[in-house]
Amino acid sequence: MNEQIRFGKMLHGGDYNPEQWLDSPEILKKDIEYFKKAKINEVSMGIFSWAVLEPEEGRYEFDWMEKLLDLMQENGISVLLATPSGARPKWMADKYPEVLRVDENRNRIFFGERHNHCYTSPIYREKVYQMNYELAKRFGHHPAVIGWHLSNEYGGECHCPLCQKEFQNWLKQRYQSIDVLNKAWATTFWSHTYQNFEQIESPSRRGEHGVHGLNLDWKRFVTERTVDFVKHETKAVRDAGSDLPVMINMMYYYNGLNYHKFKDVVDIVTWDNYPTWHKEAEPVTAMDTAMQHDIMRSIQKRPFLLMESCPSATNWQSVSKLKKPGMLKAASLQAIAHGSDSVQYFQLRQSRGAFEKFHGAVIDHYGGDDTRVFQEVCEVGKWLEQLEEMAGSLTHAQVAVIYDWENRWALEDAAGPRNENLFYKGTVEKSYFAFRKQGLDVDVIDMEQELEGYQIVAAPMLYLFRANFQQKAEAYVRNGGKLILTYWSGIVDDTDLCYLGGTPNGLMEVAGLRSEEIDGLYDWEGNEGVSVEGNSLNFTKTYRCEHLCELVKTTSAEALLVYGKDFYAGKPALTRNHYQAGECYEICADFEQDFYDDFYKKLVKNSNITVLMKEIPYGVEVTSRENEKAVYRIVQNFNCNRIEIEFPKDGFEVWLGSYDGTIAGFDTVILRKQKQ
Ligand code: GLA
Ligand code: ZN
Repeated sequence: MNEQIRFGKMLHGGDYNPEQWLDSPEILKKDIEYFKKAKINEVSMGIFSWAVLEPEEGRYEFDWMEKLLDLMQENGISVLLATPSGARPKWMADKYPEVLRVDENRNRIFFGERHNHCYTSPIYREKVYQMNYELAKRFGHHPAVIGWHLSNEYGGECHCPLCQKEFQNWLKQRYQSIDVLNKAWATTFWSHTYQNFEQIESPSRRGEHGVHGLNLDWKRFVTERTVDFVKHETKAVRDAGSDLPVMINMMYYYNGLNYHKFKDVVDIVTWDNYPTWHKEAEPVTAMDTAMQHDIMRSIQKRPFLLMESCPSATNWQSVSKLKKPGMLKAASLQAIAHGSDSVQYFQLRQSRGAFEKFHGAVIDHYGGDDTRVFQEVCEVGKWLEQLEEMAGSLTHAQVAVIYDWENRWALEDAAGPRNENLFYKGTVEKSYFAFRKQGLDVDVIDMEQELEGYQIVAAPMLYLFRANFQQKAEAYVRNGGKLILTYWSGIVDDTDLCYLGGTPNGLMEVAGLRSEEIDGLYDWEGNEGVSVEGNSLNFTKTYRCEHLCELVKTTSAEALLVYGKDFYAGKPALTRNHYQAGECYEICADFEQDFYDDFYKKLVKNSNITVLMKEIPYGVEVTSRENEKAVYRIVQNFNCNRIEIEFPKDGFEVWLGSYDGTIAGFDTVILRKQKQ
């Protein structure tokens, strides 16, 4: 499909599992009544319904689903219909044990839990195909159904003989000859050379796990297997004649899958958001969540859906903290602020038994609508209804930060300058936070995406270069872009072999330096970056740094900061290089946030960037969305107390929310500027 999906409204709803209540029509009736009150206009159904949809092999029981779909239709509620592959029935596991996953120790797991099937098993694929086909044939044109919620939170990996064989085939395709693979993986080290592809086994703590090229390729393979499975699920619904959008629900920083690889496979990106609100200061959690929203939006650079969130407390985090009054609204509207076209919950009615019986829900065991949580959900519903015209609007970011999954895999696997923690995510966040505090929308992209069009691109800690990043980065700077590199960049290629001849590979001329050594610091150690007198960015302060300090030898770059301590005192700690029409900076050490804030302030000031708002108080988030009719500026106060804030006089008017020079704690104000 690959075009922007528009639902014509902001979806408000979420996971609904009425197969648990089929014997209680009064509950279903109440649910509809409450949905209307809360302006719930969507439900996601059938996610875990396989055992009810196909109670016996080949016997499909769909009438109950049809009745529910009709009921939703009569009440103006749209349905994202799930394919039930996230959990399979007992009869299937018993009859066909190959559908069950094998763990890295080569043990086949028993039936139980969910998300534990083999993605290769021809039988599982066949069963899923048949189920999806039947569902799509029967309901693909049901007027209530607006899309396919494929499976649930794809994840994990299978090490069964079938998957091993697929892995070997995949490697054959990739490397063609075993010699090429041996070279790419440096297998002569510790005498691990392979004679043929059939000898290769998936990595395991019980066996081979020190060949980084193998580990990296296995992770890529797991992503591709999953992508292939998603395509298989999609094919079944398409073969049955449904062309409704397909989607999968992704997870917060999930390490197991490179989500960018799903960009052209799903029609719309969706994700499940469960921040631990009130564990840290709310503004801190808000920033962290914001970056994940931006990662999700940047995959397709289009609106996404918030597929799940908890209306109250979850039951699986270490402590199940209630959301304080107003938090649900703030968290829900934050998704919208970053480009979501929905607010959806897990789940609409609380389960009576089993693992999730204490997970927060819109309607709890008490069953009434006079609960605090229900009232807050109603409040979100009211907002979403008013926000209808904003559905489908886009975010136009002038700056980008790179966060790359494959780089993360390689970084975390390497035995290098620090094995306790390299703080990859934290390092990316420092640039991201600094941009956001300046009042900028930020795209968070990966190395495969284009750099052109952004005024500034921050590329923190890109240890592994792939997808011709060097060439793209060089062209970007040559044509006038501002590129920020950091320590520990351009060290290995995409099979995890170290580059020879100096690093950052391919960008030494662009950065005007060569990285010579890197010092790992103990947690209790630190160094500092001291401003060089008369430096061209007018730095005057001294900034703390920790964890990693890279020592570079400059050729054409200017040192703006130099180290203050240790044997490398006086060596560059921050550099600037003019290259063709652009500039490249290198941040040589893991600096404190203050440094990043000052640094990006200077960069933004020196460029053609327009910020959304100049003075943003602590804990306030500002973002924007735009469509043909208007530009929207969303201002959210994540402090629990009321704060004063002045809006610029630039043609924007307060559209929604209450503002009197101040914004209440956890409140949101949306400004709008209509286009002529
Ligand atoms: C995940 C799953 C849901 C549910 C929630 C609970 O996101 O997709 O099925 O288990 O967690 O928070
Ligand atoms: Zn398998």
